[in-house]
Amino acid sequence: MKSKTKFYFAPMEGVAGYIYRNIYHEYFGHIDKFFAPFISTSPNGIKKMKEFKDILPENNENVCLIPQLLSNNADDFILAAKQIKDVGYNEINLNVGCPSGTVTSKGKGAGMLRDIERLDNFLYKVFESCHGTGIKLSIKTRIGFSSPDEFDNIIEIYNRYQMHELIVHPRTREDYYKNDINLNAFRTAVKKSKNTLCYNGNIFDINDYKRITEEFDEIKSVMIGRGALRNPSIVENIIEDISKPDIKKIFDFHDKIYNEYKKCMSGERNLLFKMKEIWLYMVHSMENPDKKAKKIKKAKNIYEYESVINEFKGEYV
Ligand SMILES: Cc1cc2nc3c(=O)[nH]c(=O)nc-3n(C[C@H](O)[C@H](O)[C@H](O)COP(=O)(O)O)c2cc1C
Repeated sequence: MKSKTKFYFAPMEGVAGYIYRNIYHEYFGHIDKFFAPFISTSPNGIKKMKEFKDILPENNENVCLIPQLLSNNADDFILAAKQIKDVGYNEINLNVGCPSGTVTSKGKGAGMLRDIERLDNFLYKVFESCHGTGIKLSIKTRIGFSSPDEFDNIIEIYNRYQMHELIVHPRTREDYYKNDINLNAFRTAVKKSKNTLCYNGNIFDINDYKRITEEFDEIKSVMIGRGALRNPSIVENIIEDISKPDIKKIFDFHDKIYNEYKKCMSGERNLLFKMKEIWLYMVHSMENPDKKAKKIKKAKNIYEYESVINEFKGEYV
């Protein structure tokens, strides 16, 4: 079945790095763009090799990847953008959404929304410098720092720039990931934005997708984050109009991820920690998620972990 929109996989730092992303693509497909977790900029360019490794083309051969930058300084941004362009990318996303206190206190992520004059100056410099370089800029934004009332002015700033796409997660920084998404604010975006919009937030199942795409008929793309971590077959479900997660495929996907991490992660504790983090979300695709979550949490080593997962698999054969 042809879907109404394109599907973007949200950037999710700490969870959806290149190993997860590649295996996701191999098992579930249907993602038009994967957004990479943010890379921080610095006056000396991209500092952390681990962050850069995540976006290297040789680690992302089969997926369409959009690198994302977290910055509060236009010169640093431009330097990092050039580095990214030099390895072969032509679209870069700016993070104006990260709610973490250590990020916002430096005026980065959603912290950029606290001073929109400064945001405007940042964007002016960045768009000027990228003009004619072949770099397409997109922005992923929240709707305000403390209040949704800020959004009108924010949209006005964004309207001064011709960006490739504006991805709106309709929550304020204060909302973090809690509280309802603010559809009124998204309606404002649809009414006032001069830029092409992408919707992001709380698409956890096929009904959420239908609700959003039916109300916002003009939206050509949606970005899904936690919904895809919870039920990795969500996009397949939407396209095929099926409401149940493909559990067999989810376990196969799990096994592949587990084996890949086993090969490349140092130390069983790290491996266990990583898998537990993935299950925080994925447990919601299964029956009795709370009971399962407790069992996974209790696993003290990888032997206990493997035994718990085998027990879960046993429920579905
Ligand atoms: C664990 C985690 C890590 C995230 N990391 C990033 C990130 O690196 N960059 C970003 O723009 N958003 C990040 N986000 C926000 C998501 O991309 C997305 O905007 C948010 O979860 C709302 O979408 P959802 O309801 O579909 O999950 C993160 C969210 C989570 C839960």
